[in-house]
Amino acid sequence: MDKSISVPHLFQPLTIRSVTLRNRIGVSPMCQYSAADGFANDWHYIHLGSHAVGGASIVIVEATGVAPEGRITPGCLGLWSDKHIEPLARIAKLVKDNGAVAGIQIAHAGRKASADLPWHGGAHLSEAHGGWETIAPSPIPFGGELTKIPRAMTETDILRVQNDFVATAKRALAAGFNFLELHAAHGYLFNSFLSPLTNLRTDEYGGSFENRIRLLLETTRAVRKVWPENLPLAVRISAIDWMPGGWQIEDSIALAKLLKAEGVDLMDCSSGGLVPEAKIKVEPGYQVPFAEKVRHGANIATAAVGFITIAKQADDIVRAGQADVVLLARQMLADPYWPAHAAKMIGYKLPPPNQYARAW
Ligand SMILES: Cc1cc2nc3c(=O)[nH]c(=O)nc-3n(C[C@H](O)[C@H](O)[C@H](O)COP(=O)(O)O)c2cc1C
Repeated sequence: MDKSISVPHLFQPLTIRSVTLRNRIGVSPMCQYSAADGFANDWHYIHLGSHAVGGASIVIVEATGVAPEGRITPGCLGLWSDKHIEPLARIAKLVKDNGAVAGIQIAHAGRKASADLPWHGGAHLSEAHGGWETIAPSPIPFGGELTKIPRAMTETDILRVQNDFVATAKRALAAGFNFLELHAAHGYLFNSFLSPLTNLRTDEYGGSFENRIRLLLETTRAVRKVWPENLPLAVRISAIDWMPGGWQIEDSIALAKLLKAEGVDLMDCSSGGLVPEAKIKVEPGYQVPFAEKVRHGANIATAAVGFITIAKQADDIVRAGQADVVLLARQMLADPYWPAHAAKMIGYKLPPPNQYARAW
């Protein structure tokens, strides 16, 4: 008898290139706003390590700046210099030693950069208070508390950002990560190029769909050249802007097909974050249909994320073929051992770490 039949779909392994996820539950990237000068520290070590111990199959390190000015806040992680490698290498090793894939999301925050820590209000910081100049496709501020008018990027800026992503990908590899995600969601730099609402450029990086996706496509191509053939590459997108006249699901499917041709293995389907006035209908699993549509429309593996909190819900998503992986964020903060608890809820038992055998 096929042994896998008795294993719930949520706990079946998945191999992407040479990397095997032990189940379908991943830890979504989550900023901790706890770094100094971009350096990972004991907080990140404990936070990320506990998720690997808790049974997740992949732990994705938070949005990590490819340049100092690409960080969302002064407390965000960075990997813009070789000095940043060592503390992240400790974390990648810890995650892998505890059975999970070590993922990292690399990012440039664009016009949403230079913000204060959320627990200090999250507003844009002036240069006198530790902030910096922001850049974007077009000089349009985000709005709300993020009032800075970004500088429209020159072709030199565009080239520099692409080189920063490539150099950061190489450092992620040197740190021992075996899964890389490019952050193209939530209104950050790539996302603001993709959407017609924030990209009003008239050069070859703005205007038509082909032009708006050019920066992400070119960067992905350049990253894929330095990210080894045998390791997975993912892209997180905002599948829709939740705005009339904005980026739509059909755009995401078309983009996913092109990214797949560039060697992207998995589309991580989030949504929104581009403009503050978007009306998002948040409910359990509200972004799962995006992962499903991209998966079937572009014939590519997807991750579903957003208000996935219950074991049966997560198992159903994988069983129904809506997504290959579920990523959890807030639920994982509430319970880093969620995978072990979820297993129990659907009548399965995860092999516990020896040290925790009496409790699981
Ligand atoms: C504290 C916190 C930090 C986050 N940081 C990131 C991040 O660095 N990169 C990212 O793509 N999404 C980030 N997100 C979004 C989550 O990854 C996830 O997509 C979102 O919270 C929805 O999932 P959930 O309902 O399971 O929390 C963050 C969310 C939270 C709560």
